Amino acid sequence: KNPRTIMAAGNWKMNQGVPKQAEKLIGDLQAELKGEENSEVVLGVPFTALAKALDTVAGTDIRIAAQNCHFADKGAYTGEVSPEWLARMGVKYVILGHSERREYFAETDETVNQKIKACRHWGLRPILCCGETLAEREAQQTFTKIGHQIKAALAGVPESDLHFLTVAYEPIWAIGTGKTATDAQAEEVCAFIRDEVAKLYSRETADNLRILYGGSVNAANAAGLFGQKDIDGGLVGGASLKAADFAVIAKSA
Ligand code: G3P
Repeated sequence: KNPRTIMAAGNWKMNQGVPKQAEKLIGDLQAELKGEENSEVVLGVPFTALAKALDTVAGTDIRIAAQNCHFADKGAYTGEVSPEWLARMGVKYVILGHSERREYFAETDETVNQKIKACRHWGLRPILCCGETLAEREAQQTFTKIGHQIKAALAGVPESDLHFLTVAYEPIWAIGTGKTATDAQAEEVCAFIRDEVAKLYSRETADNLRILYGGSVNAANAAGLFGQKDIDGGLVGGASLKAADFAVIAKSA
């Protein structure tokens, strides 16, 4: 199987978290897809809806992701969710290091690194997010910032674990703003990420790494973005809450 099969990953964020709401959205999506998706479809649902989402997609090719986890297996961490539990439930992917978690919930490069290692221990596949702010882009700091985030997140992660990893480049100025990066802007940074991974590991590992773009991906711009050489799909927020739109995105490979 091609390790770089295009992925259409939805990040529902803090939406549709009542199990019945999740079931409805997934049902609507399946009706729109009619099994015609030409990408790997992953849905990042809230913790409260994971069990229902897993039941709803059972027997189909749709995979379920969590939007965060802790790095410890268990213990005195009130309110946290263990990667072991997610793995044992049947969750396949975990979104890690999203800019919203970094900004509002004190996620750091170090905790992201610990979480990646914990996920790997339990066989969960991280979707590692990175991205620059508008101020960083304007100050020509984009590559420095992204290079640092990638290196820090992967510190001590063995090359043999890299095939479980997906990276998502999400420029913060493009998230929820309707201001999508152009195909060329997104491609430039995704190619840079691939080169950084080649430097850290090897060209072969980098060439097999799946790299997504996220930030105002929609039904109209997905095909152009996914057609770029180093972009292997999208991490989609707002448009993943609209079944018809997300179905178009999942057919945009
Ligand atoms: O993780 C996806 C995301 O942050 C992008 O959100 O709403 O701009 O597609 P949106």
